[in-house]
Amino acid sequence: MTQVCATVEEDGTVLRLVEPGRPDTRFHAIWLRDNAPDPATRDPGNGQRLITLGDIPEDIRLTAAHAGTDAITCTFAPEGKTVAFDPAWLRAHAYDRPRDRTPGHLPPGAETWDSTLNANVPGGDMRALQSDPAALRDWLAAVRRFGFARVTGMEPRPGGLFDIVDLFGHVRETNYGRHFEVRTEVNPTNLAYTGLGLQAHTDNPYRDPVPTLQILACLENSASGGENMVVDGFAAARRLRDDDPEGFDLLAGHPARFAYEGSAGIALHSRRPVIELAPDGQLQAIRFNARSAAPVTDVPFADMPAWYAACRRLGDIVDDPAMQVTFKLAPGEAFIVDNTRVLHARKGYSGEGHRWLQGCYADKDGLLSKLAVLEAGT
Ligand code: FE2
Repeated sequence: MTQVCATVEEDGTVLRLVEPGRPDTRFHAIWLRDNAPDPATRDPGNGQRLITLGDIPEDIRLTAAHAGTDAITCTFAPEGKTVAFDPAWLRAHAYDRPRDRTPGHLPPGAETWDSTLNANVPGGDMRALQSDPAALRDWLAAVRRFGFARVTGMEPRPGGLFDIVDLFGHVRETNYGRHFEVRTEVNPTNLAYTGLGLQAHTDNPYRDPVPTLQILACLENSASGGENMVVDGFAAARRLRDDDPEGFDLLAGHPARFAYEGSAGIALHSRRPVIELAPDGQLQAIRFNARSAAPVTDVPFADMPAWYAACRRLGDIVDDPAMQVTFKLAPGEAFIVDNTRVLHARKGYSGEGHRWLQGCYADKDGLLSKLAVLEAGT
């Protein structure tokens, strides 16, 4: 193991770790004290923090630091407290490093895609997902990477879609119910329930927070047409950024409005941007749904025509076949989408035969939690 050298700098407010072959890494005394792993600071059982920032003296500083082979020990004043840090943990949590602040940079683990992914659509077999943790881990990782994945080998029975949610989390119930039926209806309450083709969209942008996952499972599909199509919203946003940086900034920089009042007793409204970025520019979410668009009133007068032009351009990108992955679900097949990222669509279908899908919502935090647990176990 290479020897780490620890020095205290800046009047005790900074720790510098010097390791041969690596860039130096600095930590602030306040950060180290705040993240101390000792049992008086963090509960050894559940890992939750037992103190608040108010319990840490404002003038906290380091009086000594020593790098041993398996611990960096730091002594803090005025508390007179000595804490041992795991060097590998410190390395994994280093913040003294260059970082990507490019508007539209991707979240960790995400990878953009286009129609070339048609040759290799991510998916998993239900029996394997239910019985083999490695298969489930790989399928969940595909959802994190691509924002969608198929499921095959299900029994085509009503409610079978809940077996998918049971793999990682819980159903998000809405005013549409615990699940919803997607098939032709007379007097539909939502255009999703007709045979019309639908432009690629994210679901329910009028909710805040939006459902972060959607599952659609097929029970019957003998109608002609009715293929499902998905588009990577992050890829579309980045293409807009590269083609039209000002348009990207407008869609990211102003709230749009979305609404749904299509059923009695329901009045859902949200005020969120079409392209949502984290404060450091990382892509957080896409909201794109023409059916749910409400009058936009938060874009400055002078910018409104350009905002509309940017929306139109993003729609043209979404409609570009080069962005689209298409598949037709057979009974017993399903797919899951990250509804904060991947747009989904349905091609039109005829009245001949039957098309019956069931859909439900769930949330991504549970999926990523299950994935993290499975990855930690390997
Ligand atoms: Fe939808």
